Amino acid sequence: MTQDAIVVLAGGLCPEREVSIRSGRRVSDALREQGIEAVLLDVDAALLATLAADPPQAVVPLLHGAPGEDGALREVLDSLRIPYVGSRPSACRIAFDKPVAKSLVAAAGLRTPQSMVLAQATFRELGAGPVLDAVIARLGLPLLVKPTSGGSSLGASVVTSADQLPAAMVASFAYGPVALVEQLVVGTEVAVGVLDDGTGPRALPVVEIRPDGGFYDYAARYTAGSTEFVVPASLPDDVLQECAAAAVTAHQTLGLSHWSRTDLIIDAAGAPWFLEVNVAPGMTETSTYPQALAAAGLDLGAVVQALVTQALPEPSPRRG
Ligand SMILES: Nc1ncnc2c1ncn2[C@@H]1O[C@H](COP(=O)(O)OP(=O)(O)O)[C@@H](O)[C@H]1O
Ligand SMILES: [Mg+2]
Repeated sequence: MTQDAIVVLAGGLCPEREVSIRSGRRVSDALREQGIEAVLLDVDAALLATLAADPPQAVVPLLHGAPGEDGALREVLDSLRIPYVGSRPSACRIAFDKPVAKSLVAAAGLRTPQSMVLAQATFRELGAGPVLDAVIARLGLPLLVKPTSGGSSLGASVVTSADQLPAAMVASFAYGPVALVEQLVVGTEVAVGVLDDGTGPRALPVVEIRPDGGFYDYAARYTAGSTEFVVPASLPDDVLQECAAAAVTAHQTLGLSHWSRTDLIIDAAGAPWFLEVNVAPGMTETSTYPQALAAAGLDLGAVVQALVTQALPEPSPRRG
C-alpha cells in the first residue's frame, strides 16, 4: 500500500467479528468512493508486521468488543506511531467498562439505571441463593442483566420474575466474568451519534429503534427488516434536545475523540436514561451511526476522511 493509504481494521477474535467485518467493508467502500486508497485488514498475528513494514497514513479501528474497544490495540498503534481515528486508549478503557462509565456520567448529571455489579466469583464465595435474593431486594423487578463490557446485546437478558434471574446471570457470565444488573427502563430506545471533526463534539440526529420483537437483541440488530429505525426520532423537541445534550456530555465527560454513540432509553415521562457509550460505533447497513450521518446530510466516506485529517499529527515546527 502507499503512504496515503487508510487501513480499516475489522474482524478480530471476538463474538462480534461478523458485525465488525460488515462495518469494515462499508467504511472501506465509502472511502474508495471518495477516491481514497482503503485497505481492509483483519487483526491477526501478521497485522503488526504489515503495518510496521508498510505504514499507512492512518488506521480506522472498527473492531467491536474487547479487542477493539478496550483500548489495547490503540496502545499498540500509539507505540508504532500510527495515527488512528477515534478515542485514546485511556478513554476507551473508561467507556468500555459500563459501570465505570455510568458512575462518571451520573456525576456529570445524567440519569442512569440503578444497578449492581456482580462478579461470578462473588456467587461462588457467597452462594448463589443469598446473592440473588439481595439483588431482588435492592433493585426489585423487572431487571436487565448484561456483561459489564459486552456488545451487540450478547449475554443480555430481561428478567421479569425472580426465577429467571439465575439463567440470566449464567447467560451474562458466558460473555464475561462480571455482570451488570440494572433496573429495566421501559420506554423508547434511541442511539445518539456524536461527531467531532474539528469544531467540537456535536450530536447527530437522534435515531429511534423499534425492534419488531420488542427487544433489541443480536438478531434484531443485524437482520435487515427486523427493526424499524426512525430518524429523527418521533419524540418532542425538548426530549430530542435532552438526548443530544446527554450524548455530548457523555462524549466529553469520558474524554472521547472524533466519534462515539450513546445508547439511551426514554421513559414514559420523557426522561432519557444512559445505558452505555460506544467508542467504535457499528457501521453496518443496519447500524444507527451511518443512518444518523445520512440524516444529517453527511457522507460516511467524507466524514471518515475528515476524521483521519484530525487524527494526523500536527506538522512539527522546523528546527531553525
Ligand atoms: N437498563 C436497561 N433497561 C432496558 N433495556 C436495557 C437496559 N440495559 C440494556 N437494555 C437493552 O439491552 C440492549 C443492550 O444493552 P447495552 O447496554 O446497550 O449493551 P451492548 O449494546 O453493549 O450490548 C440495549 O440496546 C437495550 O435494548
Ligand atoms: Mg448498546
